[in-house]
Amino acid sequence: MGFPEGFLWGGATAANQYEGGYREGGRGLSTLDAITGGDIHTPRMVTFKTKDGKVDSVKNGEALPENAIGYIKEDQYYPSHIATDFYHHWKEDIALFAEMGFKSYRMSISWTRICPNGTKEVNEEGLAFYDQVFDELLKYGIEPVVTINHFDMPMHLADNFDGWSSRETIDYFLFYCETIFNRYKDKVKYWMTFNEINILRSWNTLGIHSTDEQIRYQAVHHLFVASAKAVELGHQINPDFQIGMMVCYILTYPGSSHPGDILAALQANRELEFFMDVQVKGEYPAFKLKEFERKGIEIKKEPGDDEIIKKGTVDYIGFSYYMSAVAVREGEDAELVIGNQMKVAKNPHLETSDWGWAIDPTGLRIALSKMYDRYKVPLFVVENGLGAYDEVEEDGSINDDYRIEYFQKHIAAMKDAIELDGVDLIGFTPWGCIDIVSAGTGEMKKRYGFIYVDLDDDGEGTMTRSRKKSFDWYKQVIESNGENLSNN
Ligand code: BG6
Repeated sequence: MGFPEGFLWGGATAANQYEGGYREGGRGLSTLDAITGGDIHTPRMVTFKTKDGKVDSVKNGEALPENAIGYIKEDQYYPSHIATDFYHHWKEDIALFAEMGFKSYRMSISWTRICPNGTKEVNEEGLAFYDQVFDELLKYGIEPVVTINHFDMPMHLADNFDGWSSRETIDYFLFYCETIFNRYKDKVKYWMTFNEINILRSWNTLGIHSTDEQIRYQAVHHLFVASAKAVELGHQINPDFQIGMMVCYILTYPGSSHPGDILAALQANRELEFFMDVQVKGEYPAFKLKEFERKGIEIKKEPGDDEIIKKGTVDYIGFSYYMSAVAVREGEDAELVIGNQMKVAKNPHLETSDWGWAIDPTGLRIALSKMYDRYKVPLFVVENGLGAYDEVEEDGSINDDYRIEYFQKHIAAMKDAIELDGVDLIGFTPWGCIDIVSAGTGEMKKRYGFIYVDLDDDGEGTMTRSRKKSFDWYKQVIESNGENLSNN
């Protein structure tokens, strides 16, 4: 009963929000290096230069002029450049993860640290950096779980190939995969191809200049082919590799029992099931093909693409779970609230975080059941957590009981999914186990960690690490394999 033996308790981060060292050790630029900070009211901006020399910016997620190239302005603060500086603090941070008793640690590799332009040139210094990191993790018995691509798109590929809209990008990505698979084949067993593949759009993550649906879906097709080929290649390099996909799971409820609302919820949930259907079952689902037909979207496939997708299905589903949403039928008014990189209808039954995200532990159990019933593959909660304002008390303590309470409920929901629903859940890596830059808003004050980092939204601070109250609490949870959730 309870969590299985060997359950992968740990924490999760991503290079673009944590690593920093953006111009160090031979690293090349990525699109996210040209994205400013913001806050709950101020959008993050993409800074660019047109080929005729005009410097300008657009809201993150909006279309860029066709001839724009990413541009770093000298007088602008970009939070990803230093982030919370894992690049220089990795030893100290891993020691803190080990102190909490982590069995696993999910991180991403920065594509441009390995291939500075995203092309077929390799930066040995970048490879050596991650060698040290993996060795340090293994020294403590911590299993690395690596996201191959977490939002960062090599700037060179965005500027010159319009990113994932070009078929060539598949080849460059596979070269990067082959390089890291070969290098780390004896150090890393758990991999994931693309972080939150279902919410990738526009220039920041796909490198595409337009926001046109036709172009986005063509890019998504290229991601599917790239992911499937990476899975096959990885298994050839080391048959023990476990290679998963990763989806941003936002469970959508119907706003009422009105059949129109039920249908609206079904359709919203299909938006994420589409990505799992392709990567787990190995084929485009009928509902998506029909939608393409209706909208006149034509995916250009090369001969053999369908077979590649069929062959390269994933070993497990990794997913993020923070919140649920509500859908209502067309024409029906609904109060909208902010969600994970989108706006959703408000659920009157749920409380929200300081950033407006609906807190819904039961939704996690439902999500686990729905996924397991449909796909029958192991599941891995690779992101979950509460973004909150943390107060440092005069004595230096940080009493984040709200975070503990959030995790108590979500861990209990996972336990129910295992014990009552028979879900095969292999691990739990809470997001931003150490404070990192927020992806949605670019802020530092939206914190998720068990470990506090002294840094503010203007990049000021000592970078000193300190343990929050939740640090010892999570240690006790891991020690008891999820049995002792009490907060004394
Ligand atoms: C997920 C991403 O969408 O949610 C992370 O995979 C992100 O990169 C996390 O940080 C939380 O979102 P935010 O906007 O609070 O950082």
